[in-house]
Amino acid sequence: HMSHEEMIERITKIKKDMGEELFIPGHHYQKDEVIQFADASGDSLQLAQVSAQQKAKYIVFCGVHFMAETADILTNADQKVILPDMRAGCSMADMADDKQTEEAWRELTALFGDTLLPLTYVNSTAAIKAFVGQHGGATVTSSNAKQMVQWAFKQKQRLLFLPDQHLGRNTAVELGVPLDQMAVWDPIASKLEFAGDAVEDIRVILWKGHCSVHENFTTKNIEQVRKNHSEMKIIVHPECKYEVVQQADLAGSTKYIIETIKQAPAGSEWAIGTEMNLVNRLINSHQDKKIISLNPFMCPCLTMNRIDLPHLTWALEEVWEGNYTNRISVPNEIAQHAKLALNRMLQGSL
Ligand code: 13P
Ligand code: SF4
Repeated sequence: HMSHEEMIERITKIKKDMGEELFIPGHHYQKDEVIQFADASGDSLQLAQVSAQQKAKYIVFCGVHFMAETADILTNADQKVILPDMRAGCSMADMADDKQTEEAWRELTALFGDTLLPLTYVNSTAAIKAFVGQHGGATVTSSNAKQMVQWAFKQKQRLLFLPDQHLGRNTAVELGVPLDQMAVWDPIASKLEFAGDAVEDIRVILWKGHCSVHENFTTKNIEQVRKNHSEMKIIVHPECKYEVVQQADLAGSTKYIIETIKQAPAGSEWAIGTEMNLVNRLINSHQDKKIISLNPFMCPCLTMNRIDLPHLTWALEEVWEGNYTNRISVPNEIAQHAKLALNRMLQGSL
């Protein structure tokens, strides 16, 4: 068993020894103890972009499984992507599997014919990205969802947006699609939920998935902040529910939240509705501003948190010794199709 200090020493030494052969991307939701070793930190879009340009032989990905898959898809076959803990998944990505997606597609194309284009949030498995790629669609992230939905509407009349209903709904609303032109596909009941009367009116079909972290922010939390801190501005991630986004002052991706806080004047007050590790980091790095979490009982993303110092140390030692137990390797055929979807996004937003 190594002490905290020994692990830090070990990681520092391996990083130094391996030099440019090793690259460690870290998502903004990672713990401080991990992010301190990241060669690049960013949101999902930034990490996909830096991975695509990476020459390093070993990429030890500090984030969740779908992000490591994306890095593997965007790099060459001789580059190895390692996830320090295989249990670092994403409950949202798990809400859409390929069988459910194929079934939804069958039912929906029976209803809408060839008027439908699939889009998937990058928070999805490689298999879902492959399905979307094969059907002419693209991936989106919270940083470019608006441009990508606009792009999609130029191709087809209707969209199927996987797997986050909230990002899909919030983005479509921002682009002026009325709520009564949206329906929800329930993959468990295999049923379309639609309150309106004419299905022909439907323009956006939202997959019934959500982020278990961002769904915890409520309009009650907003009421509390408005009551107790009248000067405070509320900023939330678009994975939050529609009502929460509507009642907040500002909404945007992780990157947008970070930049907004950075540019805010000293003394300004903010309640932030996003993942706790990031909110704590913003609190610590902007002590001239008053920052709180929108939900005082907020927890960090548990799967992001699975990557900790012991797992990072173990993963790096493995790589250093030439073992790749936790290699993430997307099968070729899936990777080829998924890459189509990813490239349609990267070309649009790079
Ligand atoms: P972004 O990095 O695109 O803001 O996504 C947030 C998230 O939930 C990542 O898992
Ligand atoms: Fe998945 Fe939400 Fe965690 Fe992101 S924050 S990894 S979407 S569960």
